[in-house]
Amino acid sequence: MRVLMLAAPGAGKGTQGGLIAEHFGVPHIATGDLLREHVSGETDLGRQVKGFLDKGELVPDGIVLDMVRGALQAAKSDSGGYVLDGLPRTMEQARAVYRMTVELDMTADIALYLQVGQDELVRRLLARAEQEGRADDTEEVIGRGLALYREVTEPILGWYERRGILVSVAAERPVEDVTREVLVALKVLSAVVDQLPDSDRRSIDLTGLGAAFGAASE
Ligand code: AP5
Repeated sequence: MRVLMLAAPGAGKGTQGGLIAEHFGVPHIATGDLLREHVSGETDLGRQVKGFLDKGELVPDGIVLDMVRGALQAAKSDSGGYVLDGLPRTMEQARAVYRMTVELDMTADIALYLQVGQDELVRRLLARAEQEGRADDTEEVIGRGLALYREVTEPILGWYERRGILVSVAAERPVEDVTREVLVALKVLSAVVDQLPDSDRRSIDLTGLGAAFGAASE
């Protein structure tokens, strides 16, 4: 199972990414977590990126891509699967990660998009600020992160849709309802994905199912 998580800050990439990774027994490679570990460990890389994280700006591509290459190489010698969370954030990163995964023979099977409205994103991030005190959970940085998402990340969804690997899920629901729907979709797709030539793949939009899915599968 090889999944890219695509969604706005606060949509639940970390929450769902961790659960998916655990379920399929693959590493959860979260660029934000890796970068924050470097910052708190005061490594050279951490010192280079701290200013970007504090302002909610994107860390330069070279740094993020090198870091992820190492994690993907480790994943390849393990199960070969991964949940990549937080990358790509721009079209350049999308192309770079595609080239990298072609080279490593581990291109993503699915790009998972978690759909959440703007008001709920802000509510979750402000709530997290109170609970966890993450350094970048201030109103200003949250606003910058959401603006950057709309400007440079959201437009790349169309690229994955055209490649036929985008799965869109309504994620403004309780965590467990989202997880249930995501895992069912991934299990069904993982059973067929290797049999399908790229030209026969189709993106799937489950956002219309919403609460009905949760109710039907109780
Ligand atoms: P990163 O850590 O990736 O931050 P982000 O994209 O802003 O994502 P978040 O962690 O804020 O949200 P999430 O979608 O993971 O949601 P979560 O599960 O935590 O990146 C941080 C920084 O690193 C960036 O600003 C940038 O500087 C740098 N960076 C990272 N990747 C980069 C890249 N590729 N290129 C350049 N720079 C990069 O959930 C949020 C909250 O909501 C939690 O409290 C959670 O408990 C709650 N929640 C989750 N799901 C639900 C639900 N269904 N209902 C109610 N609450 C929920």
